[in-house]
Amino acid sequence: MGSLPEARGSCRRRHRRCGGAGAWLLLMLASAVAAQQTAEQGARADQAAAPEQGSTAASEVRDTARGKARGGGSAANATVERGRYLFHAALCGVCHTAKGGKPLAGGRAIESPFGTFYTSNITPDPDYGIGGWSDEDFVRALSEGVSPSGTSYYPAFPYTSFTKLTREDKLALKAYLDTVEPVAQPNRPHELAWFPAWRWPIGIWKALYFHPGTFQPDPARGDTWNRGAYLAEAATHCAECHSPRNVFGAVEQGARYSGADAGIEGGGTPNITPDKATGIGTWTRSMLAFYLEIGMDPSGDFAGGAMAHVIDEGTAKLTADDRAAIAEYILSLPPIAHQQED
Ligand code: HEC
Ligand code: HEC
Repeated sequence: MGSLPEARGSCRRRHRRCGGAGAWLLLMLASAVAAQQTAEQGARADQAAAPEQGSTAASEVRDTARGKARGGGSAANATVERGRYLFHAALCGVCHTAKGGKPLAGGRAIESPFGTFYTSNITPDPDYGIGGWSDEDFVRALSEGVSPSGTSYYPAFPYTSFTKLTREDKLALKAYLDTVEPVAQPNRPHELAWFPAWRWPIGIWKALYFHPGTFQPDPARGDTWNRGAYLAEAATHCAECHSPRNVFGAVEQGARYSGADAGIEGGGTPNITPDKATGIGTWTRSMLAFYLEIGMDPSGDFAGGAMAHVIDEGTAKLTADDRAAIAEYILSLPPIAHQQED
């Protein structure tokens, strides 16, 4: 680890915010959604008559869920539906489905400065997926970033946010994933440089930067604000992309939501705190809710790149009340002046 402080120093000199080398997780999120976009573009070009890959995957998953849920009671059904809703909000399907691959069988390549990560098979296949997992195994993976065999996951899997989901919601996600078509596809090993290829340093990273624990509602705020905070922080993980990161790839807590200068295709992410000059302080709640539904910003421009996928696969599928709640929460954040540099 000897060279790391030096790297941090040079990063400080070059960038006001150190977003460059540190934004590796952001890069991963971005390249996952970019890969999805490329896959969809390819699919559209190749077979104009076929529906786009994203929706095919989603509807297959939905149909399977419906089929299995039919047999159970209505309480079980409601849990599966709740899980399906969270699954979209949290973009699980975007990361866990490879280009042209079977839904949730994993294998999507996530490029980073440390090498390439491949997402895991999270279908209920007993050999290659998570079919053999107990409820506790699943809750622990999301809550603590730990596998059933006790090894730590890379934070490329955003358990840093998912830890905040309630236990009930984690179990609902599991109930939903249990209804998905099992796929016997082995996980592809990550292709990482020598240092990050060891899993033990993740333990150090977690000790420094990972704060396990479920979301705690703020009793001083209303139900809508708390619902919005819960969704944004625990499920839709807005801050994972919209925050600067240090050289170790950890979100700079004091600058959450103030945007990242580099990371997504070199372009960074905008400041979404309600700062009037550099953030979205001139947006009303309904403008933000509309953006999260349709993708059009107040000046009439449409969301591009990673955000288009967050909207299409995630926030557009939420209820209007939930989008309004997220908007209320985001616009209540402390304004931070930070102009995103391209
Ligand atoms: C930004 C991309 C991304 C998103 C979004 C994401 N994951 Fe993952 N997930 C990963 C990566 C990468 C791994 C592999 C981590 C590792 O090998 O250390 C992973 C691993 C997992 C594992 C462990 C599988 C195993 O075989 O050990 C589970 C379970 C999982 N994810 C479930 C989910 C669920 C549920 C969601 C939605 C709530 C989700 N993931 C959303 C990237 C993502
Ligand atoms: C996978 C990364 C990612 C996630 C997760 C994400 N965003 Fe974004 N967001 C982006 C990118 C990239 C842009 C820039 C889009 C563009 O260039 O059109 C963006 C743009 C925006 C904008 C437009 C700001 C402006 O000034 O034009 C808003 C508002 C926004 N996001 C809000 C959110 C909210 C709220 C969430 C959580 C519900 C969220 N984002 C989650 C990557 C992300």
